Amino acid sequence: MKQKGLLYAGKAKSVYRTDNAKHLIVEFRDDITAFDGGKKDTLKNKGNYNANVSAFFFSYLEKHGVRTHFIRMLDENRMLVKKLTMIPLEVIVRNFAAGSIVRNYPFREGSPLRPPVIVIDYKDDSRHDPMLNDDLIIALKLATPEELKKIKAAALKVNSLLSTLLKKQGITLVDFKIEFGKAGKAICLGDEISMDSMRLWDVKTGESLDKDVYRFDKGDVMATYHRVARRIMAPKKKGKAKREKK
Ligand code: ATP
Ligand code: TYD
Repeated sequence: MKQKGLLYAGKAKSVYRTDNAKHLIVEFRDDITAFDGGKKDTLKNKGNYNANVSAFFFSYLEKHGVRTHFIRMLDENRMLVKKLTMIPLEVIVRNFAAGSIVRNYPFREGSPLRPPVIVIDYKDDSRHDPMLNDDLIIALKLATPEELKKIKAAALKVNSLLSTLLKKQGITLVDFKIEFGKAGKAICLGDEISMDSMRLWDVKTGESLDKDVYRFDKGDVMATYHRVARRIMAPKKKGKAKREKK
């Protein structure tokens, strides 16, 4: 498998062709942006943490019946994926009120949203990603009603699987954004699921363990990413070590 020309350079990732027309390489760069690109930095190792956490989540989701684009990691920053025809929707699932939903609506920060709230934005930087509704998505032919139903069901399944997984590590999955694409007719989860695209709070302390640390200068971003990546990917086996010692 050979890396070929650059297909697309986004704000945090670069996408390359390969010698297989059905596969792409996604390179997670060390660039980080917030506020519609208004705040930008390069943080050493950021790409590596996000790539590995994404790979971990994609593998976990595949094991539990969610179709994803993930094939394998090529090195610390590069992921081999299935080429998708991306659907320009940012599908956001919210379990607790935070971020834009608190700025735009009368929700109190941290209040639970039961059932979870799905918000879908139009992925179009030139229009600042406006919020859509089902009728607009269908009128704009971004997805058919059947596809939209599948997208929402998949988003809720991802939410339920990852919320349970993270809770075991003492982490609350507050909200996250995912993107879908099509491989033939099948809807497939693409892009990334990482500290850049999720809001994670420590269950005990309420401390932010995600890009909010960067957005709002809450502390050492890379120290947080390092800690949370270890916590997600190398969970401590509670109780087991103690029992074995006896
Ligand atoms: P944003 O940061 O708002 O998500 P961006 O385009 O700047 O937008 P990047 O993550 O930097 O985002 O770029 C990665 C690009 O690759 C995105 O446009 C994403 O939709 C696209 N992409 C992700 N997975 C695949 C895939 N399997 N096939 C084709 N394109 C993909
Ligand atoms: P949201 O609260 O709408 O935006 P912001 O964090 O900018 O105030 O974000 C909800 C979640 O979705 C949060 O975990 C970040 C993620 N997200 C992205 O990763 N990319 C995006 O373009 C948007 C709008 C959200």
